[in-house]
Order: sequence, then structure tokens, then C-alpha cells
Amino acid sequence: MLATMLPSSFIIDVSARITNIRPVGKEVSVISLACPAIAANALPGNFVNIKVNASLQPLLRRPFCIHNVHGDFIDIMVKNVGLGTSILCEASCDTHLLVLGPLGNSFGTETDDFDTALLVSGGIGTAPMLFLEKTLASAARPFHHLVGGRSHSDLLLSGLTNVRTATDDGSEGFRGNVVELLEKNLAEQATYGKVKVFACGPNPMLKALARFCRERTIACELSHESIMGCGVGICYGCMVELLNAEGQKESILLCREGPVIEGHRFSA
Ligand SMILES: Cc1cc2nc3c(=O)[nH]c(=O)nc-3n(C[C@H](O)[C@H](O)[C@H](O)COP(=O)(O)OP(=O)(O)OC[C@H]3O[C@@H](n4cnc5c(N)ncnc54)[C@H](O)[C@@H]3O)c2cc1C
Ligand code: FES
Repeated sequence: MLATMLPSSFIIDVSARITNIRPVGKEVSVISLACPAIAANALPGNFVNIKVNASLQPLLRRPFCIHNVHGDFIDIMVKNVGLGTSILCEASCDTHLLVLGPLGNSFGTETDDFDTALLVSGGIGTAPMLFLEKTLASAARPFHHLVGGRSHSDLLLSGLTNVRTATDDGSEGFRGNVVELLEKNLAEQATYGKVKVFACGPNPMLKALARFCRERTIACELSHESIMGCGVGICYGCMVELLNAEGQKESILLCREGPVIEGHRFSA
């Protein structure tokens, strides 16, 4: 079962100072932000909505998963794909940014419906997995990462433990995609007990994973993406179509009901 959203009284908008920026991969940087109130209330799977500069261009904030929490700081892992993310990746320490959060729901890590957590991610979808790993580890829950990318240089493994990798070109780990690695892994491991999949990555990967888990009745929670504006249910910019309990299509606001969605709600 998914963890529910934090009460809105936990959500704050703060001017947060960048304390550190470090490159961790091809066009990817981890940015540390001093924001004690967000760090204190964040749960794995939550995101923040960031105004990347003080100008009107870009006008809208940009959403990022909380990659890590340490003391009064949160880290975000940012892939440079356009105007907003390039401004962030090129920002300097001591710059202040408006950060709204923590937003959205979180991964359901506290349920007793699994013995082993399998954290499946691809590309920049690995961003929320460090915080999820730390949360599981502090609760003494067994976990393994399965991380995929097109090539060795697309794998974002910084800080992760218990990792198996898959690359499309075979340059590191298993040759193939991360869903095929999951299938291989489940066939080889007799000690997992009941597994639950927690995933984040590109949409085609999430769809394939949802189908794989549905066919094997494996519990699965997927962190999903859409274009977002406000991050809090006002602009209706993040509407996505999912299945309801009766298997019928329904539209939801991903910023309010997500970003973490139960796998059975994805249509095939
Ligand atoms: C809940 C959530 C969590 C996210 N977490 C992360 C994260 O941890 N790290 C990270 O690097 N990115 C994350 N993203 C995606 C990130 O928000 C977008 O890459 C970013 O908003 C693009 O901004 P831009 O100004 O650089 O790109 P733009 O110049 O606006 O667009 C460049 C390209 O990015 C695409 N794009 C724009 N916005 C989004 C979006 N919201 N989602 C997907 N593609 C988009 C556009 O279609 C276009 O192809 C997350 C998105 C969501 C919804
Ligand atoms: S991002 Fe504005 S309603 Fe979801």
C-alpha cells in the first residue's frame, strides 16, 4: 500500500542556499540545498518544485525527486535536458533558490507485505533511489538495486549499495534492459521471500515493469512523471490517465495523487 500524502501544513516554500554542486555523470549533477524544514519532513518518493532563477524565463518551477536527505540538507539529482535544468546544473554555490516541498506521496516502505524490496530504476529515474535505500536500511528491510541504462556512462550509481546493473550495449553488467535483469534475478534468487518492486524511470520501462509484475502478481509501486506547473493541484497541468479499481480509465492530477502509483493502475 502507498504511503499517503503529507498534510499540507508540512509543505513550505523556502529560499534555500545551494551548498554544494557535484557532477556525478554525463550531464548529471547532484545539488545540495539547505532547507531544514523540508529535510525534516521528507519521505522517499516526495519531490520539490524549484524556481531555478529569479527571472521570468523560465516562468514555471521545475519538479525534482528528493535524492537524499542529510541533516538540514536535501540533495536533488538533475539531468540537463533543457533551459531550467541547465540553469540549475550551471548554478554556483551560495545561490538561493525558491524550493516548495516536500510534495506528493511517497513509496510504501512501512508495509509488511514484502520480505525483500527490489529497487528498479533506469537513467535519471535512479534519482529517488538513494533516499529510498537509506529509509529501507534504517528500518533493517532487505533491498537490492537493479539499475539500467543505455550504456555504462548512463548508470547513476553514486552512493548506492547492493547494486546489479543492466546496459543495452552490454558495456556494464547484464546485457539487456532492467526488466529482463529483474526476470533473471527472480529466477536465480531463492532467498528473497516475498518481493515488492519500487521503480522509477522512463515511461516505456515503467509500462513494461507494470506488465511484468501484474503477470506474476508481484506488488509494485512506480514513480511516474508528467509535465508539472504548480506541483500542488492548482494548474491542472499534470493530468495523466490511469486505471481505477474497476479497470476503467480515469484522469488524475499526478502532483496530488502521485508521483508514486501502484503498478496495477498502469494500462498495458
Ligand atoms: C515528480 C517529478 C520528479 C522529477 N524528478 C526529477 C529528478 O529527480 N531529476 C531530473 O533530472 N528530472 C526530474 N524530473 C524531470 C524534470 O522535472 C524535467 O526534466 C525538467 O522539468 C525539465 O526542465 P527544463 O526547463 O530543463 O526542460 P525544458 O526546456 O522545459 O524541456 C526540455 C525537454 O524536457 C521535457 N520535460 C519538460 N518538463 C518535463 C517533466 N516535468 N518531466 C519530463 N520531461 C519534461 C520537455 O518535454 C522537453 O523535451 C521530474 C519530473 C517530475 C514530474
Ligand atoms: S502540477 Fe499543477 S495541478 Fe499538478
